[in-house]
Amino acid sequence: MEEHIFHEKDISNDSFLVTGGAGFIGSHIAEYLLKHGAKKVRVLDNMVNGFEKNLSILRNYPAFEFMEGDIRNAETCLMACTGIDYVSHQAALGSVPRSIKEPVYFNDVNVGGFVNMLKAAVDQKVKQFVYASSSSVYGDEPTLPKREERIGNCLSPYAATKKTNELYAQVFADVYGLKLIGFRYFNIFGPRQDPDGPYAAVIPLFVKGIINKTPVYINGDGEQTRDFTFIDNAVQINIKGMLTRNSDAFNKVYNVAVGEYFTVNHLYQACAARLKSDWKPVHREPRAGDIRNSLADVSLAEKQLGYKPVKKFDTGLYETIEFFSQLYSG
Ligand SMILES: NC(=O)c1ccc[n+]([C@@H]2O[C@H](COP(=O)([O-])OP(=O)(O)OC[C@H]3O[C@@H](n4cnc5c(N)ncnc54)[C@H](O)[C@@H]3O)[C@@H](O)[C@H]2O)c1
Repeated sequence: MEEHIFHEKDISNDSFLVTGGAGFIGSHIAEYLLKHGAKKVRVLDNMVNGFEKNLSILRNYPAFEFMEGDIRNAETCLMACTGIDYVSHQAALGSVPRSIKEPVYFNDVNVGGFVNMLKAAVDQKVKQFVYASSSSVYGDEPTLPKREERIGNCLSPYAATKKTNELYAQVFADVYGLKLIGFRYFNIFGPRQDPDGPYAAVIPLFVKGIINKTPVYINGDGEQTRDFTFIDNAVQINIKGMLTRNSDAFNKVYNVAVGEYFTVNHLYQACAARLKSDWKPVHREPRAGDIRNSLADVSLAEKQLGYKPVKKFDTGLYETIEFFSQLYSG
């Protein structure tokens, strides 16, 4: 696997907090920081969707610290931010259909927990704070490619929580002077993404179904498009956002994507071809709250943060399939 370096600054005197670091995206961010010699990398996670196997990778590094706790508890957030220079806030509940079933729970974690983290970061004088928003904020805005300033109505409670995060971020930047940067992730995929449970993401589900020859479902006609974004790109923007010295970059949200889109049918065919399988998918009803087409303009992140997608769809898919193939073959 080819490795990329996303920072220039020496981070050996810097302490980082990654919330949600036992999950998919957070564990990759924490691993990058540990691998590159950060002084301290603390993970805060309550393990609702996190995994010990992700933490066990991080436990190999002496600079790693795990704090089991819930972002809904303000005191926990305050403790987690103690002695921290930079925060990457990834902890949240992340499924559109689940948010339609459980909007109050989503609000408590994704909004209440977020505000607790912002307040704790202010109180503990955190230098820079980056956080996960989502492409779902674009809602029913049909223009492609998606540009940051043009958003529509939210199509789900999940999207509403992320849009609310962006509002609070702007307020905390303006009122308390916190240096904040938000990331609208577009379908992040890669190794460690949870393939199980009713709310699993599409790529691990496809790969798992094709390998195990169990039913693979495509919602609707499969001609909906997504800007599938390999995990390295999400890690890259988090590192660049936390460490940037460009004052024009603060108090903004950025698309995190590749700037290329593929249909879900194409994705399925690419997975099956890579796995040399003729297993066929089953089409079912479209999913409520889903966006039809998604494609990002990433030029703002390129300009302000020096972001450049390093691994695109094919390379990322190949690495992801390798990971899951090994997982399922033993
Ligand atoms: N994966 C994607 O494609 C995608 C797209 C858009 C936005 N996002 C956002 O990126 C972030 C990370 O997503 P992910 O895919 O890694 O999800 P994930 O579920 O793998 O990771 C989230 C982590 O947050 C933890 N968590 C949840 N509730 C918590 C709480 N109350 N207190 C402490 N920890 C809690 C979970 O245990 C989990 O480990 C989330 O904010 C998500 O909404 C992800």
